[in-house]
Amino acid sequence: MWGGRFSEKPDAIMEEINASIDFDKALATQDVAGSRAHAAMLAEQGIITAEDAARIIEGLDQIATEIAEGRFTFSRALEDIHMNIEARLKDIIGEPAGRLHTARSRNDQVATDFRLWVRDAVDEIDKQLAGLQSALVARAEAFADAVMPGFTHLQSAQPITFGHHLLAYVEMIARDRGRFADARRRMNENPLGSAALAGTAFPIDRRQTAAALGFDRPMANSLDGVSDRDFALEALAAASITAIHLSRFAEEIVLWCTAQFGFVRLSDRFTTGSSIMPQKRNPDAAELVRAKAGRVIGSLTALLIVMKGLPLAYSKDMQEDKEQVFDALPNLSLSIAAITGMVSDMEPNLEAMKKAAGSGYSTATDLADWLVREANLPFREAHHVTGRIVAEASGRGVLLEDVPLDVMQAVHPAITSAIFDVLSVDASVTSRVSEGGTAPENVLRQARLWAERLQAE
Ligand code: ARG
Repeated sequence: MWGGRFSEKPDAIMEEINASIDFDKALATQDVAGSRAHAAMLAEQGIITAEDAARIIEGLDQIATEIAEGRFTFSRALEDIHMNIEARLKDIIGEPAGRLHTARSRNDQVATDFRLWVRDAVDEIDKQLAGLQSALVARAEAFADAVMPGFTHLQSAQPITFGHHLLAYVEMIARDRGRFADARRRMNENPLGSAALAGTAFPIDRRQTAAALGFDRPMANSLDGVSDRDFALEALAAASITAIHLSRFAEEIVLWCTAQFGFVRLSDRFTTGSSIMPQKRNPDAAELVRAKAGRVIGSLTALLIVMKGLPLAYSKDMQEDKEQVFDALPNLSLSIAAITGMVSDMEPNLEAMKKAAGSGYSTATDLADWLVREANLPFREAHHVTGRIVAEASGRGVLLEDVPLDVMQAVHPAITSAIFDVLSVDASVTSRVSEGGTAPENVLRQARLWAERLQAE
């Protein structure tokens, strides 16, 4: 393809380090789409003849079929997907194939193909995230009043509802989707027509190729068009944050299905056994989701570091952008699918959750709040009084609501039997009606709101 000024063939090592076909063949569909749009535009602008364009497009269609049917032979000697397709086009249609690359460089070609690929992946991820939200919302609605412990420091803190916990992830995922949508908006500009770096003297129409490829507009600067990979970085950054959210949830699932917690049971479909211990039901899918976050973050880090020292415009370093993205985004997709499956199938153990919710004096804040409300104590004093009652309970080895009234009254005389109304976990969650709070009525309202929103999308 570029052999004109060379007399020797590349060394085998040169070929090995240089060839990207093993991974960039994933861009085949996008490369064909880009070439079709480019050829049509060249003809429209009178840069090549309509007959040549028609033959080029026919040839490209045949190549697309060959690739789809697994009949295409990819060659390392031809370096990358762009050269492989162009060489095959020459086999099929002969001389007009050589006209396709007029007013184009592999630099704008690859930037275009890669944007198209990332855009498709982001669209797919968004759909999947919406599906995960729907699964979470359905469970949240079903378990809007199922009491479970809320934790800080992984210590029992205050009772919450299972529905509230699940809706927290719905909110996080909404922001994740927002980040992908932002990335997509900035990504969706057409680099094609930047040529090698400086643009071209041919009278190309970049708006036409932009429209044909679904881009909003051409990129305004040809140097920028071939040089930046911020669209990939943004997608990886959004993916990393999403992966962290999924990983935190996965970690909770791992904890919840231990014998010690016993909050949920995963379905057989999302559990594995042990080859030696017959009793085991291991949450491997959740653990792998947790692990894959490491990979996704690694990809972001790797590409940031590849890009950080590159002068404008293209350097071959940028060829290393693809494997990171090709690894990270499909692994994120798989993680979303796995979490969605686990959420849809998992069976909460309501009794175990409720029992755990009452341990650790989790309604101590409710007691303190009662003293503020009913006995007009300043909160700090109420906190201190409550602390002493907790110490009494702890000394006796009983729950807060089982501390005798006279013992409480000895700590503070204003306490009456009405205190017992606020010490149960149900009373605690029901009372938390502040905006965004865990009260079942709030959770139900939020779940329905989300169901409507997702339906309307
Ligand atoms: N395979 C190359 C890549 O992925 C295509 C661009 C090659 N451009 C060049 N000037 N060598 O980046």
